[in-house]
Amino acid sequence: MSQQPVDHEVTLQSLLARVAAAATVEDLRAVAREALEQGGVVATLLASIPTLPGPERKAAGQAANRIKTELQAALDAKKAALEAGALLASRHVEGFDPTLRAPRAERGTLHPVTQVVRELEDLFTSMGFEVLDGPEIELDWYNFEALNIPRDHPARDMQDTFRCDPAGQLVLRTHTSPVQVRAMETRRPPIRAIAPGKVFRQETTDASHEHTFHQMEGLVIDEDVSVGHLIHTMKTLLRGVFGKDIEVRLRPGYFPFVEPGFELDARCPFCKSGCSVCKQSTWIELLPCGMVHENVLKAGGIDPTRYSGFAFGLGLSRLVMLRYGIDDVRHLLSGDTRFLRQFHRIG
Ligand code: PHE
Repeated sequence: MSQQPVDHEVTLQSLLARVAAAATVEDLRAVAREALEQGGVVATLLASIPTLPGPERKAAGQAANRIKTELQAALDAKKAALEAGALLASRHVEGFDPTLRAPRAERGTLHPVTQVVRELEDLFTSMGFEVLDGPEIELDWYNFEALNIPRDHPARDMQDTFRCDPAGQLVLRTHTSPVQVRAMETRRPPIRAIAPGKVFRQETTDASHEHTFHQMEGLVIDEDVSVGHLIHTMKTLLRGVFGKDIEVRLRPGYFPFVEPGFELDARCPFCKSGCSVCKQSTWIELLPCGMVHENVLKAGGIDPTRYSGFAFGLGLSRLVMLRYGIDDVRHLLSGDTRFLRQFHRIG
């Protein structure tokens, strides 16, 4: 006697309807038990296969498998939905919807000064320079004395100094030049070094003056170093920063630690015949520099009869302002994220 034909599709649909109607995970388990475990619909169907006439076996096997996979998928989906619902209910807080998309996390950017410093470090290390660091709280000796600025020297007034102790031995460095002397003390020529960093001056702040700003010192000491080397290095620096060759000129400049001392001006990279950046002059005053004074070489323990060198003190804050068209130096250390967000570039 052949078996009563079973409508597998009806079986499947009724199982799926029960899954859809299940209100708890326990309900789902009951459906799974009845359908899939031993004695269940699917198992019974599979067990009946050998008793069927040959041509019907294949169709019965396929039907059993279809019920099994579709039912399992429906069970899994419903289980996930019930669990998510339960989680939501357990976390329910008035006005809080955990299914909403989170606002995008804001990505930080490198500070424009950091970006320029990193570029300059790459440029100078490619020319064999090392990158040095020096203390921001400095001894009077390194900040002044060793740089040929004795106690009663009028040049001390050029840089209004924050003093850190009553005796005046400790100061916030007013420039990065003290790193020159520290470099000479700890290495032998040839010396090629740059030292970017913060410097501090006690002054009234305005759009072009800030009590804290950035400089980058440069120092080269070797036999037969000349002003020609200085000019070449400065031109290379400017080409690196502005991406093109820039004409320069030297004017005499006075700094006690260089002799001769210069103010190096760069041809305005933004115009041909005068603009607001160069104050209509087509020249930008950018780089105080000069040949290292022999007293400084001596203070650093270097023989001035054998070696000579040049030094420069790049005004980094000013350079950054020029490059990005920033009109107020106070933005740089304001910590204002609306300002900083404009300098998107990571790395
Ligand atoms: N230290 C000087 C300043 O801050 C700049 C400078 C550095 C000048 C090196 C000459 C050589 O004003």
